[in-house]
Amino acid sequence: MIKVGIIGLGYWGPKLARNFNDLPEADLAWVCDLDQNRLDHITSLYPGVRATRDYRELLASDVEAVYIATPVHSHYRLALAALRAGKHVLVEKPLAACVDQAGEIIAEGNRQSRVVMVGHTFVYNPAVAAMREIIASGQLGEIYYINGTRVNLGLFQPDINVAWDLAPHDISILLFVLNMEPVAASARGGVFVQRKKGLHDVAYLSLIFPNGIMADIRVSWLDPCKIRRYTVVGSMKMLVYDDVEPENKIMIYDKGVEIPPYSDTEEQFHLSYRTGDGVPYPISWAEPLRVQCQHFLDCIKEGTEPRSSGRVGLQVIRILESAQHSLLNGGSKEIVGESRGFCAYRSRREVGAQCKDLCLREPVWL
Ligand SMILES: NC(=O)c1ccc[n+]([C@@H]2O[C@H](COP(=O)([O-])OP(=O)(O)OC[C@H]3O[C@@H](n4cnc5c(N)ncnc54)[C@H](O)[C@@H]3O)[C@@H](O)[C@H]2O)c1
Repeated sequence: MIKVGIIGLGYWGPKLARNFNDLPEADLAWVCDLDQNRLDHITSLYPGVRATRDYRELLASDVEAVYIATPVHSHYRLALAALRAGKHVLVEKPLAACVDQAGEIIAEGNRQSRVVMVGHTFVYNPAVAAMREIIASGQLGEIYYINGTRVNLGLFQPDINVAWDLAPHDISILLFVLNMEPVAASARGGVFVQRKKGLHDVAYLSLIFPNGIMADIRVSWLDPCKIRRYTVVGSMKMLVYDDVEPENKIMIYDKGVEIPPYSDTEEQFHLSYRTGDGVPYPISWAEPLRVQCQHFLDCIKEGTEPRSSGRVGLQVIRILESAQHSLLNGGSKEIVGESRGFCAYRSRREVGAQCKDLCLREPVWL
């Protein structure tokens, strides 16, 4: 049994507590939150668990693994402290608020020989794993483009924009299913609700992958319906992944367009459309968060690199940084890895200002 501690018991932390409490190889030993009410709630559910408002007390205990589910501005400091205390860490997405912070977390993990993992929950979703399998098998043919939508009404975040909040899921899905990194990114968006803070509540991200594969993602906290849907268009077949669909989350459509090899007459010149039926792809379902928590325990026991390792977390932040640069520069096309100095806490009003270390402290909106 691996002794686990959780820091942060707001919206997401209790779901982690439930999973670690259920997993036979985990011992949910400690929990931590600044808010005593959150601690009282969790200890009422799991009476044997020790609780503290000071994360240093949790880190001084004999827990071996720490799950950090606090707001993004605290990820860097808490992850470094946990690693320096000799703990394996799983940090919620995004791993940190900027590329430099993510790099330091990874370096500390290497120095301490500890697992660094990121909560990219969707890469543990069986439907996403199936999408990767299907693409790799070649049955869709050459991949032309991917379109993803992740929208709902809320949950608005008070400090980071919608791209930093929701797009880590989509970027990690794309890296995983395509098994490659994009070369360029651009983003457009709108600030409609949190205008004073300049925080975008809707964003359209475009990523260009090697071989010219295009991926477009729409993320929004300002939409009437919950949609989590992907379309993958290949030269031979097309796929739709709908995470909200209870039964057939993945459908493969035998649809496509062919150009006749030659055309002597105008009739022959017309493209021929293949409009075959959609066939559901069988998936054996498991709760993605449970799979993710079990994977963390397995990586600790076996000393293996997690599927959503710190390295992948850094790749995601590199892409978010490029998207943020573009978002604040009218949708400019940014080469991934070249746009330096943008972090989760640079709002529209701060562009051009010196804000070194801004992402290290809690933002104060003027
Ligand atoms: N993987 C997913 O699908 C998913 C879903 C939701 C949220 N998240 C991530 O989980 C993290 C938390 O999000 P949330 O919605 O639960 O936020 P939240 O604001 O609801 O909860 C955060 C909690 O952390 C506590 N906290 C803050 N600083 C702390 C500190 N120094 N020590 C101890 N406790 C501290 C707060 O008191 C609060 O209870 C974020 O990184 C978010 O992106 C991931």
